[in-house]
Amino acid sequence: MSFPCTTRFRRLVAGRSILDDIIEIRNLVKVFSSKKSNVVALNEINLKIKKGTIFSFLGPNGAGKTTTVRLLSCLLKPTAGEAYVFGKNVLDDPVGIRSRIGVLTENHGMYERMTVKENLDFFSSFYGIDKVAIASRISELLSAFNLTDRADDKVGTLSKGLKQRAALIKTLVHDPELVFLDEPTAGLDPKASVEFRDYIQLLGKQYHKTIFMCTHNLVEAQKLSDLVAIIDKGSIKKIGPPAELEKQLFEAVTFKVVSARPMSGDIALSIADNEGVKASLAGPNELTVFLSKPEEEIMPRIVRKLVHLGVPVVEVARQSHSLEDIYLKLMGGEV
Ligand SMILES: Nc1ncnc2c1ncn2[C@@H]1O[C@H](COP(=O)(O)OP(=O)(O)OP(=O)(O)O)[C@@H](O)[C@H]1O
Ligand SMILES: [Mg+2]
Repeated sequence: MSFPCTTRFRRLVAGRSILDDIIEIRNLVKVFSSKKSNVVALNEINLKIKKGTIFSFLGPNGAGKTTTVRLLSCLLKPTAGEAYVFGKNVLDDPVGIRSRIGVLTENHGMYERMTVKENLDFFSSFYGIDKVAIASRISELLSAFNLTDRADDKVGTLSKGLKQRAALIKTLVHDPELVFLDEPTAGLDPKASVEFRDYIQLLGKQYHKTIFMCTHNLVEAQKLSDLVAIIDKGSIKKIGPPAELEKQLFEAVTFKVVSARPMSGDIALSIADNEGVKASLAGPNELTVFLSKPEEEIMPRIVRKLVHLGVPVVEVARQSHSLEDIYLKLMGGEV
């Protein structure tokens, strides 16, 4: 079947591809120049993020994560390359873009001597939205993020976790479509981090926001993200859904096979073959199987063979590599 190839059609297709990608970065370069030195913070990075994605940006200190957020939120100008947010070039429409994004930075920027509610009223007044609509939105957000009972308390009296929750509400008062979270759980205790992670999930899954999160917390990134990019020294080293990165980086796939009865050592030898299958006993009832090829067709064959050899298989579980394993492998560390 042939497609109509009119100019209008091409424009429609091009327009749609940009709109599908809420963020598109092409060969973006940022150099911070001073008399003393030139720091290349971003070195030709490319990135596309679709609407509704929870994206995590991972990388060591100084990798270029915050610089990317500042470029996308129109606080910095690129040295070279292009960045589009909502299909618009960041240089062409900074005011329009800013009205549709929310940015939670490491510094929450709220007034400690004002109450949570007073802060939210104050910051929301900048957006020129109808007062009644804003009031109902603030009360809805306070309730969704379980902060209604602290709304009249001064921000200075809140714990760090609650302050961060209030700051998240401040980021959302104008109902942005795209939310940037720069290390949102840094400095929070483990309980507060887990609670905050649940709120990020709520934001993505229930409020359908697109989320661009910079984090050093690999467990958090793995739990929340649809898409992950790992950046180092201004260059993106890998990008993809966590499970796909695992496939790209780790050739061997590992399975745990549990038997109802202890197995003999010969079992491991009898299922190893020249198709890249290796096995070893991990315990009397547990066999570890390593496959160097995609597992779809091989694993059922191995299980059939084990059953044929009299092994009562009660469990087969794929052992996945964590995002931490992936990150360490990319950064040249031990896994
Ligand atoms: N305003 C600036 N002037 C000069 N250099 C800067 C400026 N902002 C950032 N840099 C440099 O750019 C590089 C990238 O910094 P950036 O803050 O983007 O890293 P990051 O990945 O967010 O790190 P972290 O995990 O520590 O927050 C670093 O070398 C940093 O020192
Ligand atoms: Mg940073």
